[in-house]
Amino acid sequence: MTRQGAQLAFLSILLFLCILKLVAAGVPLNRYETLLKQQSAPVDEELGLYDDSDKVVKLTVANFNETVLEQNRSTLVEFYNTYCGHCRRFAPIYKQVAEQLHAWRDVVIVSAIDCAAEENNGVCRAYEVMGYPTLRYMGPGYQPSAMQYGLKLETQKPDEIRSLLAGMVAAENQTANNTHWPNFVPVSESESTATALFEGLNSQREYVALIHEPENSTLGAETALFLLQWPAVQVRRFGDAAVAAKFKLDTSQKQQLALVDRQGNVKVLTPSTQSSEAYARAIEDALRALSFTPRPEQQQAQSPPSPNGGSQHEELNAIISEVHRNKHLIYQADLEQAIRTILHNEVAKVNVISGERLLALQRFLTVLQRYNPLGQAGRQLVGKLRDYVAQFNQQLTGKEFEQELRRLESKLGHIYSSTHYVGCTGSSPHFRGFSCSLWTLFHFMSVQAAGNEQSQDPLEVLQAMHGYIKNFFGCTDCSEHFQAMATRRKIWNVATKDEAVLWLWSAHNEVNQRLAGDDTEDPQFPKVQFPSASSCAKCRQAPASALKENLEINWNKEAVLSFLKNIHNPQFVSRFGVQREELLHETLDKMRQKRQISNVFSDMDMRMGMFLYAFCIVMMVLAFKLFAFKGGYRKKPYGHDLLGKV
Ligand SMILES: Cc1cc2nc3c(=O)[nH]c(=O)nc-3n(C[C@H](O)[C@H](O)[C@H](O)COP(=O)(O)OP(=O)(O)OC[C@H]3O[C@@H](n4cnc5c(N)ncnc54)[C@H](O)[C@@H]3O)c2cc1C
Ligand SMILES: *[C@@H]1O[C@H](CO)[C@@H](O)[C@H](O)[C@H]1NC(C)=O
Ligand SMILES: *[C@@H]1O[C@H](CO)[C@@H](O)[C@H](O)[C@H]1NC(C)=O
Ligand SMILES: *[C@@H]1O[C@H](CO)[C@@H](O)[C@H](O)[C@H]1NC(C)=O
Ligand SMILES: *[C@@H]1O[C@H](CO)[C@@H](O)[C@H](O)[C@H]1NC(C)=O
Ligand SMILES: *[C@@H]1O[C@H](CO)[C@@H](O)[C@H](O)[C@H]1NC(C)=O
Repeated sequence: MTRQGAQLAFLSILLFLCILKLVAAGVPLNRYETLLKQQSAPVDEELGLYDDSDKVVKLTVANFNETVLEQNRSTLVEFYNTYCGHCRRFAPIYKQVAEQLHAWRDVVIVSAIDCAAEENNGVCRAYEVMGYPTLRYMGPGYQPSAMQYGLKLETQKPDEIRSLLAGMVAAENQTANNTHWPNFVPVSESESTATALFEGLNSQREYVALIHEPENSTLGAETALFLLQWPAVQVRRFGDAAVAAKFKLDTSQKQQLALVDRQGNVKVLTPSTQSSEAYARAIEDALRALSFTPRPEQQQAQSPPSPNGGSQHEELNAIISEVHRNKHLIYQADLEQAIRTILHNEVAKVNVISGERLLALQRFLTVLQRYNPLGQAGRQLVGKLRDYVAQFNQQLTGKEFEQELRRLESKLGHIYSSTHYVGCTGSSPHFRGFSCSLWTLFHFMSVQAAGNEQSQDPLEVLQAMHGYIKNFFGCTDCSEHFQAMATRRKIWNVATKDEAVLWLWSAHNEVNQRLAGDDTEDPQFPKVQFPSASSCAKCRQAPASALKENLEINWNKEAVLSFLKNIHNPQFVSRFGVQREELLHETLDKMRQKRQISNVFSDMDMRMGMFLYAFCIVMMVLAFKLFAFKGGYRKKPYGHDLLGKV
């Protein structure tokens, strides 16, 4: 083979490699992960209902196992969603519980995990959380197993939580591993001497506190837990009247609580009320009077405040003032965040999607695709997801759905043009957000359906919404309220697509009315009957009588309908906060200009493409240089023989 032949072959290989690289490029691997991260909901450190200022132990996927599994103490876990109004109302109560039960921490800790944080999908899915908030108790040595995801506490009242928790702890049969575990076994008659009571207790224990515990109460168990930090005392409970008699206590004369010392001296204490806290306080006061102290608390390291808080604050204010300037605009960013959260969090965290739930998902994705506000890639994504889900007729797991979603997103490239809420931004991270964007998305879809000539089914959007809210919306009490309201307002009788738009509008106003003044109301965005008089004067007719003024607004439904159609017109959807305009639908003009380029590059990142072209040109120039300097090339030892054989 000639030298020229070899050089030609070398060139061809270079070109081949170049082309291969170009074709395979798509999205380069090192940026893959970053891309996937951007597609998922952004991690917002401020999210979550608990922070360093309270005593709730914050759980995430990163510390869940090491905190909850196989411990020598129990754990109370709250599974919640940041955006669920009921969870928000419950958070201050749970903080109080954690504060109060902080004294119990050697035996049981109070913790919480935010299932609205996408990173925690796996945990919330594995624990089959069905409603939010859910409280579950996991005992010492706990190991998850099928159908055993902790014991559910069916209450949200602090006193009941405390008493249920004490009951569960007292029923545990493990004391070996934890030196602080109280002795919950009731004192028996045969144990009713000082010698027997103190047998086996370490020398620090100078007193045993005897508590008469009424039947079916946890008074003694709770008191024992409150006194874990006091090494000088061991708390024991008893129910048996014979025990009281041995210590000469007259329980009928309110002699329910006594301190016994090693010599057998009995000192009756009188708590101020019949509560475990009062009992604990009475014992503590008595011990303090005897110069005993609790164990010193270990100081926990406080995490430093976030460094870029200032600039985030400015950004937030800029968004909020934009929204206040344009009261009734619909924002692209909110529609996108709704879809992102639905796909990445709400659907993905359901363990098994089957039966009615599977049907609801199929229907929802079909309607979403029909009225999809996302750009080209987003349409492909939802379309492919719909086809994927449609293949299943028995069941699908949230994990499979999540995997398919991630596979499609990495293949299709950037989907979302924005990363934050705009019209649904709250003045604090604990307000508004997802539930606001969900309303917005459904109003948007109902209006698009009304304008769609092909669609004949007046119920298509309402039915999809109802199925979604019932089966996936992680705000459990919202979901229950909505279902009740749908029945009461006869959702299935809606006869036209315009009526469907108005049905949703009116139902939303009912919710607004109920929640006006609620703790979850953002003071910067008070709940008003929508649209406000200033947004649409024509929408409200003069009240029929002066008396009626404060009762019910006399709506002009024609005007309301055209107002709703107007603000939800895709042409008027605001792109404020959109960072990647190129991902959205373009105007016809722009589309024509860009058609050719986009055909070639479709999914490929433009900058990367340019870089590869430059690289290939350089390679080819180099190759031609080699071609020109034949002498030098011949001397090179490498490659020559090998190439010669090609
Ligand atoms: C189906 C559903 C049921 C819910 N039920 C409850 C519940 O029972 N308890 C609870 O605490 N929270 C409930 N929520 C949440 C609650 O309705 C709000 O979403 C949340 O409090 C945030 O309120 P917001 O101020 O951001 O505005 P939202 O009420 O969420 O409104 C979102 C946007 O829609 C516009 N809008 C307001 N009213 C109308 C209307 N009538 N028609 C058209 N557009 C309107 C507003 O401009 C606003 O920007 C529910 C949410 C949904 C989606
Ligand atoms: C936590 O434990 C469960 C069950 O033992 C296991 O399936 C899961 O992978 C663990 N998670 C992590 C992050 O270690
Ligand atoms: C002691 O605790 C460990 C976990 O810390 C647990 O695996 C073990 O079963 C416990 N032993 C007893 C006797 O309770
Ligand atoms: C408690 O543990 C002991 C020893 O492990 C066992 O024999 C006993 O049956 C257990 N009791 C209960 C109520 O689980
Ligand atoms: C519980 O176990 C941990 C180690 O797993 C140990 O450090 C701790 O002292 C134990 N707690 C008690 C109260 O025994
Ligand atoms: C205690 O509970 C048991 C079982 O639930 C019940 O039969 C009994 O009547 C209760 N006793 C009192 C005093 O409430």
